[in-house]
Amino acid sequence: MPSHLFSRILVTGASGQVGSQLVRALEPLGDVVAPTRAELDLSSDASIRRCIRALQPRWIVNAAAYTAVDQAESEPALAHAINAEAPGIIGEEAEAIDAPVIHFSTDYVFDGTNATPYLETDPTAPLNVYGASKLAGESALRQSCRGSLIFRTSWVYGATGKNFLRTFLKLAHERDQLRIVADQHGAPTWSRDLASLIAHVIAQIEHEAATEPVRLIYAARYHRGIYHAAGSGETTWAGFATEALRQLAERDPSINLATIIPITTAEYPTPAARPLNSRLDCSKLDRTFNYNMMDWHNSLHQVLDELA
Ligand SMILES: NC(=O)c1ccc[n+]([C@@H]2O[C@H](COP(=O)([O-])OP(=O)(O)OC[C@H]3O[C@@H](n4cnc5c(N)ncnc54)[C@H](OP(=O)(O)O)[C@@H]3O)[C@@H](O)[C@H]2O)c1
Repeated sequence: MPSHLFSRILVTGASGQVGSQLVRALEPLGDVVAPTRAELDLSSDASIRRCIRALQPRWIVNAAAYTAVDQAESEPALAHAINAEAPGIIGEEAEAIDAPVIHFSTDYVFDGTNATPYLETDPTAPLNVYGASKLAGESALRQSCRGSLIFRTSWVYGATGKNFLRTFLKLAHERDQLRIVADQHGAPTWSRDLASLIAHVIAQIEHEAATEPVRLIYAARYHRGIYHAAGSGETTWAGFATEALRQLAERDPSINLATIIPITTAEYPTPAARPLNSRLDCSKLDRTFNYNMMDWHNSLHQVLDELA
């Protein structure tokens, strides 16, 4: 049996949308250890160091984050501690034990003024506290850890957790009309697809380390950097909601759900500003790992199946 099987994979944020899917997706690759927030608190330097030193994982997958985008505007210090500082500390500890780190970041590192989908090399300019904290986290991790891979994603959703689709579906059953923003362009990303991608990436790097005479950490360092990883295709929040209603009506033509009223971002003021263009060009992911993220229409279909 290859030696990497049953080696330890530390997953943070296992109660979250992506973390919970990662725990399932990574199980075939190793011994997944998923500490609770009480066991590993990303707002505490000491807690992070103690946990990683005790566990000595082969891989660290950091899916924990401060994700309350609007709330971050009034809690910048906490958002910064969890999203900006913690990745740097994780990186230092990982570097000391030669463990590669997989980390997630966001389309909100961009200001959305590009006319085309964003490349990994495009200049960043976050519009809000959350985006700025995530961008600082990318840089802290890259500086502290040479074996880090950062996956920027967008509009994460799934059958569990707090996300746009679940909130929308609940309200669509309760109300006659729903006003939904129609001028922010991006791609919904299924949490399970993202978790499958990470399993694929870890398996590929393990395979490279097993077939080439290099240690795992060198195989990971070879692929270090930032990758865009969002659902294939593009839409708007209103387009996503409309497609969800269309797919539901296809299953049950008698279903009675809210009518969508498309509105502009300006008509829906929020504490945190959001980019109008959140589209991420994922061709580097395809070139490097030969992985195409699922078309959002298809993933939506599967999520609605799960919710039925
Ligand atoms: N959601 C999106 O639309 C989106 C878009 C782009 C990028 N991302 C990125 O994708 C990654 C995963 O996001 P997600 O949607 O899965 O997030 P999520 O569902 O909000 O889950 C966040 C996780 O982080 C944990 N956490 C928060 N503060 C913590 C702390 N101080 N110590 C330890 N754990 C803590 C939470 O634990 P509790 O259950 O204890 O709160 C939860 O398990 C994050 O890096 C996020 O920035 C998300």
